Amino acid sequence: MGRLAADVTGGREIRATLDALRTAGSEAAYLAVDITDQAATTAALAPHRDRVTGLVHGAGVLADQLIAHKKASEIERVFAPKLAGLRSVLAALPAERLRHVVLFSSVAGFFGNQGQSDYAMANEVLNTWAASARRMLPGARVTSLNWGAWDSGMVSPQIKAVFEERGIPLIQAPEGARLFAGQFAPERAADTVTVLGPTTPLSSRERPAPTSVATVRRSLTELAGTLLVTDHRIDSVPVLPAAVAIGWALGAVEHAEGRRAVRLRDFSVHKGIVFDGTGPDECRVVMTPADGEVTVAVRSVTKDGTVRPHYAATVLAGPAPAPAAPLTGLPAPGGGADAAGLYEDGTLFHGPALRGLRRVLADEEARLVLECEPVATDAGPADASWYAAGPADLLLQAALVWVRRFRSAAGLPLAVGGVELHAPLTSPGTFLVVVEPVRRDGPDSRLTVTACAPDGRVLARFTDVSVVSAPQLAAKFTG
Ligand SMILES: NC(=O)c1ccc[n+]([C@@H]2O[C@H](COP(=O)([O-])OP(=O)(O)OC[C@H]3O[C@@H](n4cnc5c(N)ncnc54)[C@H](OP(=O)(O)O)[C@@H]3O)[C@@H](O)[C@H]2O)c1
Repeated sequence: MGRLAADVTGGREIRATLDALRTAGSEAAYLAVDITDQAATTAALAPHRDRVTGLVHGAGVLADQLIAHKKASEIERVFAPKLAGLRSVLAALPAERLRHVVLFSSVAGFFGNQGQSDYAMANEVLNTWAASARRMLPGARVTSLNWGAWDSGMVSPQIKAVFEERGIPLIQAPEGARLFAGQFAPERAADTVTVLGPTTPLSSRERPAPTSVATVRRSLTELAGTLLVTDHRIDSVPVLPAAVAIGWALGAVEHAEGRRAVRLRDFSVHKGIVFDGTGPDECRVVMTPADGEVTVAVRSVTKDGTVRPHYAATVLAGPAPAPAAPLTGLPAPGGGADAAGLYEDGTLFHGPALRGLRRVLADEEARLVLECEPVATDAGPADASWYAAGPADLLLQAALVWVRRFRSAAGLPLAVGGVELHAPLTSPGTFLVVVEPVRRDGPDSRLTVTACAPDGRVLARFTDVSVVSAPQLAAKFTG
């Protein structure tokens, strides 16, 4: 039924076009011929061959299929009108009379497209043929037009829906006609292969999401010498910052799935990793996909084979988090009080390389605002592309400052309900960290910690940050 309807509407369009041409004073003949049939093509063109000065080759068919499922006969069906078809039309015309040769190729050939390896090859052959024909036919302008997807023709409603989903704009018929006519302008004379319409590739490289458990290893021996660890000491013993473990979870999933990891939930510390010489040499970051999310467990294995859980989190799939409203009413950087004392009075324990909290700009329980300078980001390539443990650690430091000031206790981060990255946290320049309690009255200290640019634009947000506090910690922090 679809084919029948297409034939009827196609017939109508052809008649309307011929009528319009005649009305405009042109003479036109419409010859229907299978151009893969050399003899039939030659016979059909014979009465006209000495008057033809231009050739527009637009024949094409699709037989989309992943390469593993392609059949030789289908590949031949796709190749034939483009390649054998062009050859037989050219053979039927005297080459020396041609002034214009225009080939309809496709961005599928230029960039490639899923399911269209044969179609892409055929179109790319048209491109390379155009380049060589420029020399073979010196009297002709030879151009291969690599069209983006049109909102008509072989783009069926189903294919159209796929393009719309991917945000690829389609060429509307009047725009396509304008681009085609424009191609005959003198300034386009040198175009041999040209892309017309949106230059967006039709499909991008996709890595299949892992469906089974995957494990990556993180060397603790290599990390032991980095400032992130050596300047992160509690009671003189280096401890792995929780911010590094969050980066491991995001980074491992990003690398495994080939997509930017920007959202994580339910990060918890089971047992921190201390570098006191008795600990493991490496950690295993174990990723288990489920329902589009990936649960991540960071574990170590002792020499006797005992498995120790250290951290857990779930990395969320899907696009970036919904845009966050910029923070308003922020104090200007440079004011408030110097924050250096926080690193001396038992609030924080971090060494010089991690001392990124510079000023306390607002000092209220409802909203603590700290000015920060980025600090050491040497956790290495294990981090995700928008995440760096050094700057991220400042969000956790800020939470500890709030707990110390408003709950009079030294603390350590225990859990983070959610991590959202709205912009790269890798080289933020001067930025602000804003700490707000989820509830002001309760004894527990669940906090929302937001990193933002000085103008309030949100860079990253940690929600439901829980801090475990203990009276003896303050003494250990100054130790
Ligand atoms: N639509 C797009 O988005 C798009 C994008 C990039 C490039 N292109 C290229 O633009 C050209 C036109 O595409 P379209 O969208 O208009 O497709 P379409 O509506 O399917 O038209 C293809 C045309 O090719 C003709 N054809 C196929 N095999 C033939 C053969 N052996 N002998 C003679 N004619 C043959 C068909 O004739 P019948 O109807 O008689 O079968 C039909 O008129 C194609 O070369 C395509 O590769 C299209």
